[in-house]
Amino acid sequence: PRFAALIPAAGSGSRLGFGIPKALVDLQGKTLLERAIENLAPLVDEVVVALPEGQSIESPVKQIVGGNTRQDSVFRLLQATEADFVLIHDAARPFLGAKVLERIKGRVIQSGAVTAALPATDTLVHSSGGFWGYLVDRSKTWAVQTPQAFRRTLILDAHLKALQEGFEATDDAGLANKYGSNVELVLGDSRLFKVTTPADFELATAFAQLWDQ
Ligand code: C5P
Repeated sequence: PRFAALIPAAGSGSRLGFGIPKALVDLQGKTLLERAIENLAPLVDEVVVALPEGQSIESPVKQIVGGNTRQDSVFRLLQATEADFVLIHDAARPFLGAKVLERIKGRVIQSGAVTAALPATDTLVHSSGGFWGYLVDRSKTWAVQTPQAFRRTLILDAHLKALQEGFEATDDAGLANKYGSNVELVLGDSRLFKVTTPADFELATAFAQLWDQ
């Protein structure tokens, strides 16, 4: 089967506050997007990236214009490929190792819908007005990451239904599940953290030196 890596990279990066799109921010000599492409390209047949309007990168990968939301950017990416399976991965997660990718690829053919996720390690609480509301059962809670992989027709179908109903989710596994798919949780990695805030960027800068060795 053919695999495409789809990389939503059209976010503004306003929470990071560097004044340029987050995916194009330099992290120790390579942009977040370059790092994501470099990790994914060896394991797929095709890479497609969604960029902010008016942006392009120097790379042989296919580039399209993203949308106003992550969901819209992924919907556009899905229309730019005919691969049997798609691996969707945020440009904002630059430390994607081959092991996680192999696990994800290894499960999606059978499952149709899988995501990297980590069992929660912190105590989890539902908050109410800035105060402790109630405890969430940590033993049943996972933090969801990317990559997420799907049979292309399955996730395209979920996106079409979501568009019709005006349903919005923060990721594609959430969409797939909303429209009836069983989503398998595959062990992710704490190094797959998402670079969102300046503090995340500080961590990423320090860790990049180790990663690049
Ligand atoms: O905003 P957040 O960090 O959750 O974004 C996750 C990923 O989705 C990032 O790689 C970002 O570039 C991408 N994104 C996008 N189009 C948008 C918003 C976010 O491709 N309109």
